[in-house]
Amino acid sequence: MSKSWASESASKSAAGEVMRAEKLAKTYAEGKMRTPVFDGLDLSVQAGETVAIVGASGAGKSTLLHLLGGLDTPTAGEVYVAGQKMSALSNAARGQLRNGALGFVYQFHHLLPEFTALENVMMPVMLGGADAGAAAQRAKELLQQVGLGHRVEHKPGELSGGERQRAAVARALVNQPACVLGDEPTGNLDEKTAATVFELMLELNRAQKTSLVLVTHDRRLARKLDRVLELHEGRLRELPASDV
Ligand SMILES: Nc1ncnc2c1ncn2[C@@H]1O[C@H](COP(=O)(O)OP(=O)(O)O)[C@@H](O)[C@H]1O
Ligand SMILES: [Mg+2]
Repeated sequence: MSKSWASESASKSAAGEVMRAEKLAKTYAEGKMRTPVFDGLDLSVQAGETVAIVGASGAGKSTLLHLLGGLDTPTAGEVYVAGQKMSALSNAARGQLRNGALGFVYQFHHLLPEFTALENVMMPVMLGGADAGAAAQRAKELLQQVGLGHRVEHKPGELSGGERQRAAVARALVNQPACVLGDEPTGNLDEKTAATVFELMLELNRAQKTSLVLVTHDRRLARKLDRVLELHEGRLRELPASDV
């Protein structure tokens, strides 16, 4: 499998850090309307570490995750992923880094409806340069690990909500990323299904030693991660376990 980002990121292993935000600022500007979300936010995520981000609706959690994932650009400050400065990369290089070093799971699965579960999970592997045979093998392994070995030929519309999120988890992990970013990945599921999908994500992340940055409003789930940070008035503050 292609791991080109790894060889370019010596600082990742040196520092043990997979993601860093430095003095990050974001202000949305549309016409005369300016919406400052945060200014001067810092975050460091170590290899294999699982971090929950909690905070009120509108606090900027999704905005932060978009910036960390290189899906949006900050107004000021820098994001480093696997030792690479996102702002210094071309769009193509940033896309490649995103595909190889990051996995994404959202509240809505964002699987492509016209493709099977297998094809959806194969896609990141093929984007990384693998051939179809190798990609299919790797995707099948992941689908088996998330308990969907018997559903590989199903399209998203033929899967339950929990199964769709499992497929999205398989897709996020299939390239063995350094870090998975999750934005309320279980927020759309009933409580019991949410708990099992969440446990599965944690278990697979820990087995692969993949870091996890997870936005959730569910403090009971947040508590199961290594650290809980609260985003409040533009700052991240570490919550002691007793406050979560
Ligand atoms: N594209 C946008 N344009 C303008 N304002 C935005 C945009 N996206 C989000 N916002 C505003 O930024 C703030 C943070 O939003 P968001 O990151 O979605 O919060 P959260 O995920 O914590 O609920 C909110 O006040 C929201 O209204
Ligand atoms: Mg949000």
